[in-house]
Amino acid sequence: MLKLHLADFSIEHFLEHYWQQKPVVIRQGFQHFSDLISPDQLAGLACEEQVESRLVYKTDGQWQAEVGPFDSYERLGECDWSLIVQAVNHWSPAVAALVEPFSFLPKWRLDDVMISYATPGGGVGPHIDLYDVFICQGSGRRRWRVGDRGNHRQFAAHTALLHTDPFEAIIDVELLPGDILYIPPGFPHDGVTLEHSMSFSVGFRAKSARDMFSGLADHLIDKELGSALIGDPKRPIHRNQGRIDASDFARIRAHLQSVLDDDTLIADFAGSYFSKTKCQLDLQELEEPFSQAELVDALARQSLIRIGGLRCFYVDATVAQGVCYIEGERFEFGAACHGAVLALCDNECLSHALLKTWLQQPAFVSALTQWLNCGYWYFQD
Ligand code: SIN
Ligand code: CO
Repeated sequence: MLKLHLADFSIEHFLEHYWQQKPVVIRQGFQHFSDLISPDQLAGLACEEQVESRLVYKTDGQWQAEVGPFDSYERLGECDWSLIVQAVNHWSPAVAALVEPFSFLPKWRLDDVMISYATPGGGVGPHIDLYDVFICQGSGRRRWRVGDRGNHRQFAAHTALLHTDPFEAIIDVELLPGDILYIPPGFPHDGVTLEHSMSFSVGFRAKSARDMFSGLADHLIDKELGSALIGDPKRPIHRNQGRIDASDFARIRAHLQSVLDDDTLIADFAGSYFSKTKCQLDLQELEEPFSQAELVDALARQSLIRIGGLRCFYVDATVAQGVCYIEGERFEFGAACHGAVLALCDNECLSHALLKTWLQQPAFVSALTQWLNCGYWYFQD
C-alpha cells in the first residue's frame, strides 16, 4: 500500500501553510516508489478510443499537440516529446491506489490521476493550471521550475496549448523517483525531462461560480425546479419608468437567493454535480446479472470493489434520509439506511462486515445489485 511520507512537516502543517497557498517539494514523499504502470502500458492505453490522451512535441521550434487515440509512436524519435494520458485511475486499479494517500482531502475535490511519459527534453511548456496538483515523480528525473502567482500573460502556443511567458523561478528542482511537487492553482510551472521519465499527477479540481451556476441552471431545468415567478404585490406607484430601484433590485436578488437558501435543492445539485465524472469510466458490466440473493451470498465470501474514478457522495443536509449521489444520480433509501450510505460513499472496498447491518434493507440491496450489474462495483476474485 502506498503511504505518504512527510519528513519535514505534518499533514496538518501542509494544509495550514501550503494547500491552495504555495508550492512545495516533498522529497521522498513516496519511499521506494516504482511506476504504477509501465510506459508501454501507458502508450497502449492511449491507443484506446475511450481514453483521453495527448502528444506534445516541437517541430522546428513550433509547439505541436495531437489528441489521441494513437496507433504508433515510432515517428516521434528518442527525445523532445511527451505523452499525457488523463484519468488513468479509471483504467488501472494500481494507479487508482495513488489516490488513497491523499485521502486527507475529500473526494469531491479530486479530479483524476493524469500520467505523462516524457523523453529527454520533453514537456508541455510553461503554463498555469486551474487546479491543485501533486506531481509524483516515477522513473527518471525531471527538472521543474515553478514561478510565483502574478499577472502572467497567457497565450496559445498551439490551439491546444495555453502557455505563459517566461517566469522567474521560486522553485527550481530536479525531481527523483518518489519525490512529489505540490502546485496550487495559478502558479506558472514548467517541467522538462532530463531522462525518460514518468510523472503521476494527482489533480484536484476547483470550480468557478460561473461553472457552478451553469450546472445549477441545468439542474433546475432537468428537475423542473425554480419555476416560481418573481412577485411584487402591493407595490407603490413607480415614478421613473426606466429605473430598477433599490427595492426592486433587492426583490430580484432575494428571489435568486431563495433558490440558494433551499438546502435540499442545493444539496441535490452539489451531490449530483460533483459526482459526475469528466472522463469515461471502465464499467465492469456483467454478462450474467446477479440476483439480490446471489449478491448477498457472494458478499459473504468476497468484497465489492468500487471501479476507479466512480464518484459517490452524501451531503450533510440530506444524508439523514439515506440520500446519496452516484455518477450524477440521486438515490434515496430512507433514514434506516443512513449508515449504509456512509459505508458506501466513504469506502472503496465494501466487505460483508461493513454492510451486514443493511443487507436486510430491500431498497438498498436492490440498488447495490443494479450497481454491481451495471459495472460500478465488482467482486474481487
Ligand atoms: C506533465 O506531466 O507533463 C505536465 C504536468 C503539468 O505540468 O501539469
Ligand atoms: Co501543469
